[in-house]
Amino acid sequence: MRLRRWRRTAALRAIMTQTRLQREELMAPFFIREENTSQIVSKLPNHPQHNLHDLLKAIEKFTHSGGKSIILFGIPKSKDSLATGAHGFNGIIQRALREIKKTFSHDIAVAADLCLCEYTDHGHCGILKRIAHRASRVARSKNSAPFSSNSKRATRNAQLFTIDNDATLDILRKTAVSLAHAGADIIAPSGMMDGQVTAIRESLDENNFKDTLILSYAAKYASTLYGPFRELAESKPSFGDRKSYQMNPANSDEALREIALDIQEGADIVMVKPAMFYLDAIERAKSTFNWPLAAFQVSGEAWMIEQYAQSGMARREDAILESTLAIKRAGANLIITYFAQELLGLL
Ligand code: PBG
Ligand code: ZN
Repeated sequence: MRLRRWRRTAALRAIMTQTRLQREELMAPFFIREENTSQIVSKLPNHPQHNLHDLLKAIEKFTHSGGKSIILFGIPKSKDSLATGAHGFNGIIQRALREIKKTFSHDIAVAADLCLCEYTDHGHCGILKRIAHRASRVARSKNSAPFSSNSKRATRNAQLFTIDNDATLDILRKTAVSLAHAGADIIAPSGMMDGQVTAIRESLDENNFKDTLILSYAAKYASTLYGPFRELAESKPSFGDRKSYQMNPANSDEALREIALDIQEGADIVMVKPAMFYLDAIERAKSTFNWPLAAFQVSGEAWMIEQYAQSGMARREDAILESTLAIKRAGANLIITYFAQELLGLL
C-alpha cells in the first residue's frame, strides 16, 4: 500500500479529508464593560471591552458571517466581596442579554459565562471564608485595601482565606436565574465549585427556566494560559491562585470524574479547558461519554498563535486553522475561540 497516492492532488486530498471544521461549531467570546465607551485592552487583537452599542454591532457582524453562538463576559463598574454585581437586574450582562435578545431573538444562541471572579473585589471565583486569624503585625498595616495586590498582604491573605464552596453556590443559584430571566439561552458556570451544576439546574427549574441549557466548564485546569483573559476581564486574583478549585494539569482521570459528575448533575454540554495542551482530555472525554463536548481555546493559546504568526514563522490563517482543526479532531463538537469571527471568513 502506497499512502502517498492519496496526497498527490488537491482533489484527492479533499476527498480523503476526515475532519472538517464547520461554522456552526464555533462559539465567539465577547467582553462587555459597564461604561459608555469601548476600550481596547491591547493584549488580544480584535477583542476590546465593548460598550453595549459596539457589542451589538460586533454580534451583528458575527451572525451575518454565519456565526451561531456567543458567550458573554462582563466587566462591572464596581466589585465587592459578595459579587453583588453578578446578579443585579441591571447588571452589565443582564442588560446586554436583554438588548441582544431584543435585536437578534433566536438567530443566535447566547451563553452567559457564570462566575464570580469578575465581580469580587478579590478576584476569586467564589466568596471567601476566613480560616485563620490575622496576626497583629499585619492588622496594623491597614493602609492598603484588604485585597490590594500588595505582595506582603497577598501572601498573608492566601493563608487567611479559603473559597467557601457552598456559600458560593447560593450566589450562583441567584445569578443563574437572573441571567436566564434576562434571556440567556445557555448558562455556563466556570468557577469549578463542587455541585454547581446541580445547584444551577435546581434553581433554574424552580424558577421555570426548564429550557435553559447548562454548558458546564467541567474540566477546567489551573492553567498558565489565562493571562490575557484576566487582563481583559479584569479578573486576576489579588492573592493566591486558583489551584484549590481548578484542576491539576497533571490529571486526566480526574477530568473524566469531573465530567461524569457534571453529566449526572444535568449538564447539557460539558467542556474541557484549555484546549491545545489538553487534547488528550478532550479525546478521552469524547470516547468515554459521547456527550456534547465543548473545548475552549483560551486567551493564552490565541496569544501564542498570534505571536508565532507575528514573528513570521507561519501564516496567521494557517496557524489558526490548524489549531482549531486539531481541537475538532480530538473530539470537540463546539469550540470557543478568539478567532471565531476570523474563522468564519476562512471556512
Ligand atoms: C474565570 C474564567 C477564566 C476564563 C474563562 N472564565 C480564567 C480564570 O480562571 O481566571 C479563561 C478564558 C481565557 O483565558 O480565554 N472563571
Ligand atoms: Zn472565575
